[in-house]
Amino acid sequence: MERSADRINILGIVPSCDATAAAVVQNGTVLISNVIASQIDIHARYGGVVPEVASRQHLLAALPVVQRALAEAETSWEDLQSIAVTIGPGLAGSLLVGVNLAKTIALARRLPLFGINHLEGHIYANWLADDTKREPPRFPLVCLIVSGGHTDLLLMRDHGQYLPLGRTRDDAAGEAFDKVARILELGYPGGPSIQQAAQGASPTYRLPRAWLKGSDDFSFSGLKTAVLHLVQKANHPVAEVAASFQEAVVDVLVTKTVEAAHRHRAQQILLAGGVAANTLLRDTMSLRSSIPVLFPPPPLCTDNAAMIAACSYFHLMTRRSDGWDLDVQPNLKLV
Ligand code: KG4
Ligand code: ZN
Repeated sequence: MERSADRINILGIVPSCDATAAAVVQNGTVLISNVIASQIDIHARYGGVVPEVASRQHLLAALPVVQRALAEAETSWEDLQSIAVTIGPGLAGSLLVGVNLAKTIALARRLPLFGINHLEGHIYANWLADDTKREPPRFPLVCLIVSGGHTDLLLMRDHGQYLPLGRTRDDAAGEAFDKVARILELGYPGGPSIQQAAQGASPTYRLPRAWLKGSDDFSFSGLKTAVLHLVQKANHPVAEVAASFQEAVVDVLVTKTVEAAHRHRAQQILLAGGVAANTLLRDTMSLRSSIPVLFPPPPLCTDNAAMIAACSYFHLMTRRSDGWDLDVQPNLKLV
C-alpha cells in the first residue's frame, strides 16, 4: 500500500449481529481491504441470532479478522491514522467486543478513536469506490436505509445532517423478509433466500400494500400476516408466493422513496443496508426514478467494516476524536 502524508488510512472494526468484520479505507472513499468472517452458518442452526453465541464468536474472530484486514491491505500498524468502531445500534455483548478491541488498539498505537453509528455507516457505503474516479453522492439527497432492524427514509442536506422523513411503524423491511422466509420454510437469512426462491417466478398473488397516504412511514406486518394466511389456506407454489411478497415490499419502498425525493428536490436517491442488496429493489428503483439512484455493491450493503471506516473519515474531518469513556449504545438513534 502506498504511504503519503495526504493519505489517511482508517481501520474499521464491526461486530454486527451475524458477522465479525474489519477493513482498511483510504480518505473515506478508497477500499483497501475488507474482511468479513460470517457467523451465518452458526446462526442458521438456530434459525436466527442467539446473542450469547454471537458475542462469543466475535471474541474468537475479532483479532484474527483485524490482522487479516491489515495483511490484505499490505499495511502495518504504522500506516494507520485512525481507528473506527460501531457503538450501536446493536447487541450490547457484540458491540462491547468491538469497542474494547478498538480502544486497546487506539491506546497501544496512540491513534484517534471514533465511535460510529452503524446506520450512518450503512449510508456511507455509498461513498466507497474501488478507485478515486467515481463521483461522490450529491446533496441534497434522499436516503432509504433498509436493514434487518431499520427502515428509515432520511433527507441529507450535507455530511452528517439527517432529517427524518419516515420510518417503519412495525417490522423493518429486512425483518419482514426474514419472517416470511421462516413462514415459507426457506433458509436464514431470509432476504437472499427469498430473492433466490423468487427468481424467474411470477408474482401471481396480489398481496396488500400499506401506503399510509400522507406520511413517509412504512408498515410491513400486515403484508407478513397476509402471506401467513395465504399459505395456511392452501398449498401454493413457494416461488410464486416469494415473488409476490418481494414485489409488494419493493413496490412500497420504491413508490414512497421516489415520491419523497421529488417532493424534496433531491439530487440523488441513496439505498443503504442489507435489503439494498436486493436485485429487484435496485432495478425497480433505478427504473422508476428520474432522479439518479446510487447503491453500494451487494457485499457493501450488508454489514461490513469498510462502511464504518468510510464514515469515520468524515467525522475525523469535522470533530474531535472520542475519549476512553467511549461506550456501547445498543439503542443508538441516527435521528
Ligand atoms: O444491514 P444488514 O446486513 O444488518 C443489519 O444491520 O440488520 O441487513 C440484514 C438484513 C436481513 O434482514 C437480510 O435478510 C436482508 O438484510 N437482506 C436482504 C438481501 N440480503 C440481505 N433482503 C432482501 N434481499 C437481499 N438480497
Ligand atoms: Zn447493518
